Amino acid sequence: MYKRTVPLGNIHQKTIDILPTENEKKSYLEYRNQFDDAANFKKIQKYPIHLDIELDNVCNYACTFCPIGQPENELNNYYKDIKRLDSDKVYEILDEAKQIGVKSLQFNLVNEPLANKSIFKVLDYATNLKFNDIFFISNGYLLNEKNSEKILNSGLTKIMFSLDAFSPETYKERKLKNKKPANYEKVIKNILAFLELKKKLNKKFPLTRVSFIIMDNNKHEVDNFKKFWKNKVDAIHFQKLTDYSDSNIIAESVTDSQCNMPMFRLSIKSDGNVKPCCVGYGEYINIGNIYKDSLYNIWNSDFMRDFQNMHIGKKAENNEHCKKCLKNSSNV
Ligand SMILES: C[S@@+](CC[C@H](N)C(=O)[O-])C[C@H]1O[C@@H](n2cnc3c(N)ncnc32)[C@H](O)[C@@H]1O
Ligand code: SF4
Ligand code: SF4
Repeated sequence: MYKRTVPLGNIHQKTIDILPTENEKKSYLEYRNQFDDAANFKKIQKYPIHLDIELDNVCNYACTFCPIGQPENELNNYYKDIKRLDSDKVYEILDEAKQIGVKSLQFNLVNEPLANKSIFKVLDYATNLKFNDIFFISNGYLLNEKNSEKILNSGLTKIMFSLDAFSPETYKERKLKNKKPANYEKVIKNILAFLELKKKLNKKFPLTRVSFIIMDNNKHEVDNFKKFWKNKVDAIHFQKLTDYSDSNIIAESVTDSQCNMPMFRLSIKSDGNVKPCCVGYGEYINIGNIYKDSLYNIWNSDFMRDFQNMHIGKKAENNEHCKKCLKNSSNV
């Protein structure tokens, strides 16, 4: 099976350890078992276990490896004008998600969640519905004291910071929208201050993760990155780079290929279109639109079932976008 990422530290066991009641621990464990069954292709689920919701398509950065920072990339067109999900639609999606059995929510796709003005209102709504897992991935630039307090008082179970660097030099791949380098020291300071505040306020949640996409320019920093963050955060994630320049960095052909994302997740873009995964190449694969159909129907559509069966049968090369995606995801 194709494994997209290699985690370090079991953030899910940590979650179970600190959940306050036996019922919550049991429910979280059931969710993880269900997730593992899906991710291991054991069973087609009746509903997505996990949902990504891209509230808008706005980011304060334009990283060189991300479609937002690649004007020559066809995928970049999507980000040229602002798109936002209607707030009523977001609440409707959350209500339906809870009702059909969704267990886990990620409040971002290709955007910066802390740049969205309604993020905390939406988090409150989701928290009241009591999902097992609620998280987002952030670049950490807007993690000031005010946002840190709001996060610590929200129902987020996890927060993930993408760094991809252990020095200002390698952080240069993460640029601000105005093309100026983002300030590495500022981001590290923000995250360390957030961790301090979490301790001071005696908060168990959200658990924290930092991530690092391994690339040619930063691979020499992997060990130091691990050493520095090991005792500060709950998990460290090393990610594989997906190359959107279609340079076929792995191999000429992909055979016996499968990807487990469509077995457990649906990803809702800010224009309402629904995708089978959170990766750029998946943006070409449309399963439905949330303004036109329900989550349940989209997940149980013939298209989605055929797509899942294609991956179960290790025939991902039959879909041109999956084929490119698998070819262009590095194995560094
Ligand atoms: C698209 S970002 C959105 C959240 C937020 N803006 C951030 O950067 O953390 C979500 C994750 O995708 C990762 N990512 C972006 N471009 C990628 C690529 N070409 N290959 C692999 N991961 C990528 C980022 O590092 C981040 O961890
Ligand atoms: S901060 Fe995240 S969404 Fe924004 S350009 Fe970078 S990787 Fe893409
Ligand atoms: S594009 Fe296909 S192979 Fe790539 S992550 Fe999405 S579903 Fe998986």
